[in-house]
Amino acid sequence: MTDLPAVFRSAYGAAPTGVWAAPGRVNLIGEHTDYNDGFVLPLAIPYTARAAARRRDDGVLRLHSEQGDGAVTELRVDELAPGTVTGWAQYPAGVVWALREAGHEVGGADFCFDSDVPVGAGLSSSAALECVVAAAYRDLYDLRLDAAELALLAQRAENAFAGVPCGVMDQMASTACAEGGALFLDTRDLSSRQVPLDLAGQGLRLLVIDTRVKHDLGDGAYAELRAGCERAAALLGLPALRDLDLAGLPAALDRLPAELRPLVRHVVTENLRVEQAVAHLDAGELAAIGPILTAGHASLRDDYRVSCPETDLAASAAVEAGALGARMTGGGFGGSVLALVEAEALPQVAAAVTTAFAQAGYATPRTFPVTPAAGARRLA
Ligand code: GLA
Repeated sequence: MTDLPAVFRSAYGAAPTGVWAAPGRVNLIGEHTDYNDGFVLPLAIPYTARAAARRRDDGVLRLHSEQGDGAVTELRVDELAPGTVTGWAQYPAGVVWALREAGHEVGGADFCFDSDVPVGAGLSSSAALECVVAAAYRDLYDLRLDAAELALLAQRAENAFAGVPCGVMDQMASTACAEGGALFLDTRDLSSRQVPLDLAGQGLRLLVIDTRVKHDLGDGAYAELRAGCERAAALLGLPALRDLDLAGLPAALDRLPAELRPLVRHVVTENLRVEQAVAHLDAGELAAIGPILTAGHASLRDDYRVSCPETDLAASAAVEAGALGARMTGGGFGGSVLALVEAEALPQVAAAVTTAFAQAGYATPRTFPVTPAAGARRLA
């Protein structure tokens, strides 16, 4: 792992005040529900964006990334505005902008970043970067901000500064998750609780299959789906699709234009799947969520239509090879699949997916297990 304080010293000629980390995430279940005021159940993964940072009092923000081109991006915090920064630097700059927009009197800072969260894999590398900056600024400027407030600032950066209309799940996962559990989050009021996820104790593993199909939320499809859900809720006279339950679904579908029906069906059934999964996890029945994950994938494939041939193949090949359940995780259009597998079946499931990809002529997927890790924190 990169010695970030050393990188910082050589970039800026002084020691950093501290080092912070914020994780990427996988979502166990509850996809495309967060912008419908619904339920989600993500866990933080042991891959993080890390930042060494030091406060500056001259209003200058300097950003260097080990994943960048080696250059230092230099900005003035009082000149930050949406559209003024491009590339990866818009995520950290956006957080500083969002803090100032929210009335926090923060100035500049020097940052060096390093991240091992895979980019474009649907594992929230940008949320990790935003959240590590939010956590560092909280400490550097003595701000009293809790995990939910940090997440909302990070989401604001992504929505209004980077122009990606995402919900709040990824940022909440990155700030509020705790080791050993998943975060059962109600995105309406951001109330949350940890749900135990004792994979090791039950002889289970969570396997991530990164299809290597680049997922990009900025391409308009995500925004269209979100708009479709909002239109459906408005037509039904509801604040959000979260307010529709299974009993009311058939009558509601009758009142909607055909193109909106599958979206609504997905959101209503997906919220239910989250509640069912949480009930099993609370009862210690981890293996029982397998079929719920697989049903979630079918709903995203057939109703929400955000899967792609590669994620469909990864999910089906995993289940055929013995996984208890599998589904795409994150926004879709590529990205990663998550499979719940018995520990001893892990090699065979990973090998079966890799073989299926080779036979289909797809690029070799990256497969790796994940365990529920901690949310954003100060390391040093
Ligand atoms: C992306 C967004 C999240 C959420 C998921 C779909 O990851 O950033 O807010 O909407 O897609 O569940």
